[in-house]
Amino acid sequence: MIADALLRAENITRSYGNTPAVRAASLSVTAGEVLAIMGPSGSGKSTLLHCLAGIFTPDSGEVWFDGRRMDTLDDARRSELRRTAFGFVFQFGQLVPELTVTENVALPLLLGRAKRKDAHARAASWLERLDLAKLGGRHTGELSGGQAQRVAIARALVTRPRVVFADEPTGALDSLTGEHVMELLVGLAREEGVTVIVVTHDARVAAGADREVVVRDGKVTDPYATGIVR
Ligand SMILES: Nc1ncnc2c1ncn2[C@@H]1O[C@H](COP(=O)(O)OP(=O)(O)O)[C@@H](O)[C@H]1O
Ligand SMILES: [Mg+2]
Repeated sequence: MIADALLRAENITRSYGNTPAVRAASLSVTAGEVLAIMGPSGSGKSTLLHCLAGIFTPDSGEVWFDGRRMDTLDDARRSELRRTAFGFVFQFGQLVPELTVTENVALPLLLGRAKRKDAHARAASWLERLDLAKLGGRHTGELSGGQAQRVAIARALVTRPRVVFADEPTGALDSLTGEHVMELLVGLAREEGVTVIVVTHDARVAAGADREVVVRDGKVTDPYATGIVR
């Protein structure tokens, strides 16, 4: 129900030059919900996710977060919102190779002007929850793909965000590792009451979500309405 939406896109459109990527898409997510976005490659999933997360602004349409219009905020306010309310997990972790695991997880807190000691303590407690306590001093290049994605999850959750956006977080992992990473992300998000929006190709990933939608040609379709899910 729209009235209960924590995050909502209404009729949004986004093109790259003459290439339309998202075409009049509408989507809403309630607080605490785990939503999977599926759909073929090139259908507009990443662009839609970036619009929902305030990384891109749509060319037309509206994005609302927590009762406030988001797409009309200026860049500084949108990046402030991203830093304080959102967490991100991407396909290739996007960890900072020059930093240790602990430093990577502490980074969003330090960007929020937390004290170094507090930031490192909170990072360490998240590393523990993700079974990474022993790897805190390592550099990220020394991690396996699954370990790197667990670090990315810790970094996404450390600021206690309202929403975590994940774009194919298991796309570069073998299926067993991917399943484990997804279980951790969804399990911890549920414990923390964090809303998750995850783009995925993997039906098993989507199976762990509360709800799934399918993006086709830049439009969001309800799989139940279209018979994609029986
Ligand atoms: N930076 C870009 N420049 C030009 N076209 C792009 C760019 N990023 C994506 N596109 C195009 O926009 C469409 C949607 O892309 P994307 O949102 O990445 O889809 P998906 O995540 O579902 O694979 C595709 O046709 C893609 O080629
Ligand atoms: Mg994509």
